[in-house]
Formats: sequence, C-alpha cells, structure tokens
Amino acid sequence: MTGILGDEQRLLASRVGLARQIDRGSVVLSSRLAGAFLNVPRHPFVPVFYRRDGERFVPWRVKDGDPEAWLDAVYADDSLVTEVDGIHAEVAAPEGLIGVPTSSSTAPSLMADMLDALDVSEGNEVYEVGTGTGYNAGALSFLAGDRHVTTVDRTEALTDRARRRLNAMGFDPLVLHGDGARDFPEDATYDRLIATASVPRVPREWLKRLRPGGIMVVPVKGTLAGGTVARLTKLRDGAAVGHILHTPAAFMPLKTGPQVPPQMPDVPDRPGRKTALSARVLDDWTFSFFAQLHMPAGLVRTYGRQGTILYDPADGSVTRVADMHEGPPFVTSTGPSDLWRPIEAAHRLWQRLNRPRREWFTVEVTPVEQSVRYTAPDGEVHCWLL
Ligand SMILES: C[S@@+](CC[C@H](N)C(=O)[O-])C[C@H]1O[C@@H](n2cnc3c(N)ncnc32)[C@H](O)[C@@H]1O
Repeated sequence: MTGILGDEQRLLASRVGLARQIDRGSVVLSSRLAGAFLNVPRHPFVPVFYRRDGERFVPWRVKDGDPEAWLDAVYADDSLVTEVDGIHAEVAAPEGLIGVPTSSSTAPSLMADMLDALDVSEGNEVYEVGTGTGYNAGALSFLAGDRHVTTVDRTEALTDRARRRLNAMGFDPLVLHGDGARDFPEDATYDRLIATASVPRVPREWLKRLRPGGIMVVPVKGTLAGGTVARLTKLRDGAAVGHILHTPAAFMPLKTGPQVPPQMPDVPDRPGRKTALSARVLDDWTFSFFAQLHMPAGLVRTYGRQGTILYDPADGSVTRVADMHEGPPFVTSTGPSDLWRPIEAAHRLWQRLNRPRREWFTVEVTPVEQSVRYTAPDGEVHCWLL
C-alpha cells in the first residue's frame, strides 16, 4: 500500500494520538484497554464514511482531497457514520444523501468507557449486539481472544464487510447476521454482553443468555432521548443488578420486530393552557432521562416547527408544547391525558431532589420486571418501572 495508508509510522502516531485523546477525557485507560486501541487500527474498518455537508451526508474516502485530513478524522474521538437510511457509504453516490444514520463507528472514548465497564478478561465468552464496522469487535477480539467473540448485526451488507476486515487483521470472531435481541447460536451463554444500539428496556433473551456473575453493558434510551448506559451483573437468582454509567450515550435504536413507524395523529387547534416549562428542558439529558421514567413505555416524541409533540399510542393522547413569540409556552392536548403534566411533575421532583446525576441511579432487571431506583441522601427511595 502506498500513500498515507502505507506509512506505518504515521499510522502508529495516529493510534497513539487517539489513545491520548481518550485518556485526556473522562476515561482513564487501563493498560489492557490502551493495548486494544494501540493494536487495533480504526482506518481499515472505515475505508469510507460520511462527512456532514449541511444537511447532506457525503461519502469520504482517503483519496477525496487531503489524505491527512481524512486520517485525522478517522483517529478523532468522534463517531463516524457509515450507513444512512440503509445506504452504506461505500456504495453511496458521490453527492451523498439526506437521511438518518443507521450504522456508525461509535466515538472511541464512549467505546472505551463501555469496554472498561464490561471488564473483559481473556477467555470470557462475549456477545456484541451491533457489529457495525467491526472496530469494537476487533477491540473485543484483542481483549477476550477472537475465538471467544460473537457479534451480530441486522444486514449481511454490514456483517460481510466487518467479517472481511476482521479476518484481514488476523481476527476470526463469529460474525452473525440477525436480530441481536433474539438470534443467538443454540444454547449459547455468555460471560459478557455488550450492545451498541439502544433499547428502552433490556430484551428478555439478553438476561437469559448471560451467565451468573456475567456483566452486560447496555445503552438504555426511550423516546425522550437522554441516552444512558446501564452496567448490570447477573446474580445467581437470575436477576441482573447494577447502575447507570456517568457517560451520556446517544446510540441509534435497536431495530427489532416489525418496523412500523407510528402514525402521529394531528393535534387539533383547541383551547389549551400556559405552562412555565418549555419543552427545551428536554435538551438537558440528565433531566430527559429522569422525565422518561415518568412516561408510558410506548411514548413517541417528535419535534418540528410546531413544537414538541408527545403521543401515547396506548390511549391515543397527543400533546403539543410550543414556545411562543410572546408569553409563556403553550400546551394543547387531545385524548384522555395531557402528557405534559407528568413531565412538569417530574421536573418539580427532579429539582426537589437537587437534580440527581444519572450515575446515582441503580437498575434491576428480572425476568418479570425492570426498574430504576434512586435513593436520596435522606434515605427516601424512588423507584420507577421501565
Ligand atoms: C452504533 S452502530 C454499531 C457500532 C459498532 N459496534 C462498531 O464498532 O462499528 C449500531 C449498530 O446496531 C445495529 N443494529 C440495529 N438493530 C439491530 C439488531 N436488532 N440486531 C443487531 N444489530 C442491530 C445497526 O445496524 C448498527 O450497525
């Protein structure tokens, strides 16, 4: 290989630079984790990724423009989008497209935080949901030994590319195509399970497949965003308990079951009410995580020029919260519930509790129930079902 990708010194300097960047952030790299980032290069997993140009995602290869800038972007502590609306950057038209990212390589410091929480030892049997580019599966192969890693993604286009690249690096993990919430090799169980796509609740099969004493690291996120990562240890009685990591994490949602986008009904213009609480409060991720705990499981949220719209498909309630040019924000609802009321109440409680940090919450998952708990310094216990 010629050019910048044939310059071993430059590539090594990039990996060292990335490890330093991660270390300067919130993660202190253990020597084993540093070893993973120094030994497993990122660029072979992302030969083409999308860069943002306004609203468009435009494919970017090393030969498009300045190769130094390309390599710097690959070894920056950023996520790299590789698929938009199911179109991989490697097959995208040069002018790119407008759409929603459907696969990416996670920001390395977030990868490091999650790998640190996963606490992988050599020989641990590991299951990764969301192969994506294969870069994290490469790090897992380095940490556990490639023959102990199974990784799954939902399309062959993704898994074939990832498998090829892992093999070219000398790693041969089991790369499966399927739904990571349900498709497992028969009877397989694992010491470690890591998901790199978010779920509103932990899929039942993940709890079942984790061995007693095993650890799972799972991004938990509902429609109000406020993405968090839960780290859970499986107990002998079959439950998994643990806490939320301090790191915020905006993972794309796990696509499982039939993908039917909810049909949001219109909110008719009818008399409404004023509120002191703007929907912008949901931009604060610590609060939106807390607010989500107070809302129905199937809640859908959208936002646009009309404001923030909340919809509960279970009873048909729709609530719009809009900031006004003059005066306080305005709430309009239709259906049995005003869905902004529980968020206003959650906000009052959040302030009364002195805005608790996400890492102060604990999580318990059993085969029948999943809950999040916060114990205030005065011993008052708050518990919500997921
Ligand atoms: C953030 S990306 C994964 C990043 C990846 N670990 C890496 O290192 O490149 C999230 C991935 O989850 C995958 N995904 C979504 N739903 C899935 C499902 N039901 N089963 C398996 N993978 C899924 C997406 O296709 C996407 O590739």
